[in-house]
Amino acid sequence: MFAGWRGRMTVHKNIPASLNIDAIRAEFPILQREINGRPLVYLDSAASAQKPEFVIESVAGVYRASYANVHRGLHTLANETTEAFEAAREDVRRFLNAKSANEIVFTRGSTEAINLVAHTFCQMLAPGDEIIISRMEHHSNIVPWILLSEKNGFALKWADVTEAGELDYEQLAGLVNDRTRLIAITHMSNVLGTVNDIARIRAIPGVAEIPLLLDGSQSAVHLAVDVQALDCDFFVFTGHKLYGPSGAGALYARGDWLDRLPPYMGGGEMIADVFEDRVTFADVPHKFEAGTPAIADVIGLGAAIRWVERHDRVAVMEHERALMDRAMTGLAEIDGLTVIGTAQDKGAIISFHMEGAHPHDVAQILDKYGVAVRAGHHCAQPLMRRLGLSATARASFALYNTFEEADAFVDALKKARKFLI
Ligand SMILES: Cc1ncc(COP(=O)(O)O)c(C=O)c1O
Repeated sequence: MFAGWRGRMTVHKNIPASLNIDAIRAEFPILQREINGRPLVYLDSAASAQKPEFVIESVAGVYRASYANVHRGLHTLANETTEAFEAAREDVRRFLNAKSANEIVFTRGSTEAINLVAHTFCQMLAPGDEIIISRMEHHSNIVPWILLSEKNGFALKWADVTEAGELDYEQLAGLVNDRTRLIAITHMSNVLGTVNDIARIRAIPGVAEIPLLLDGSQSAVHLAVDVQALDCDFFVFTGHKLYGPSGAGALYARGDWLDRLPPYMGGGEMIADVFEDRVTFADVPHKFEAGTPAIADVIGLGAAIRWVERHDRVAVMEHERALMDRAMTGLAEIDGLTVIGTAQDKGAIISFHMEGAHPHDVAQILDKYGVAVRAGHHCAQPLMRRLGLSATARASFALYNTFEEADAFVDALKKARKFLI
């Protein structure tokens, strides 16, 4: 098991000037709630973030004022909705700094985006080919590859994780060879908070030429993402963690990848012509968007991105880092509490283990104090096994959290410890 956090002890007392957290909180109706008679302290944003009024209203506004199916109508409402839907694609393009909106496919979320790449990319593989993933992946970046490797005969190689919860770059380098066809890796771990050094991966001999898929489910929320600077071929993220609605996310596929990959699902919208014996496909990205999409949710995703862009990203990162530091400092005072994941470059996610207490019990007691954290394997069982654990509790911080909430979390944990041990 990893040693407790003994790293940076800096406590940033001040919220960066450009962020007015009180005003931001006021935009989130749900944050005004009480849970068990106490103010809600929502520290489960890594699972799903809460939504500002701007996003709620954007989704509701679609249904209230301008709703129709997209891309196929000749009437005003269909045109308006199509325009809003395609504007969201441009929002995603800008957010990721992709070169073209044609590189953006809307999906239900990261899981569907990874499955899309896995199912289409693997059709181009031969037995004996290899794909590298890591032990810190979410199941959504593991299970599709296992299922397909069983079917298609390629080999799955696992990059390891160090004791501090960092990617083992040297061991990863040893896995790369001339049969490596793809590296699919998380940009930021949902359990450890570790931010992987993508430039360091790209610098491994041989990797420059290997397609790289990044799971940006967490990084898109906490870091300023630039897919061109990251030099990745695929980047996926999910809107509901980015203050957007559930049911909408996106896949970025660089350059001509979408032209080179075969279609994923068949149906309406993704075709040019259908004959009795053959089909021709729509231009990209529509070739990958079969059926009626999650119209209002995609438009809501665009709104979420515009909402996020209102705030200085560096200030947000500093604020979240400061919240994490504040909580870490408090946790260091609790006997028998071990923080899991102490990487140098770590986002605002704290997994922890309290000796003698099951994480589920810890989470339930925290809930009595209004503090919402997650407990379980966090859809990362290979990582849990690597850590010698079956579960952890996890607190994750977002833009709307406060120092008072970080303190309330630590206080509630101290009380939980007294009760449980
Ligand atoms: C790192 C990571 N990858 C993938 C996912 C899957 O996201 P979704 O369920 O929205 O498809 C999650 C969600 O928890 C995640 O944290």
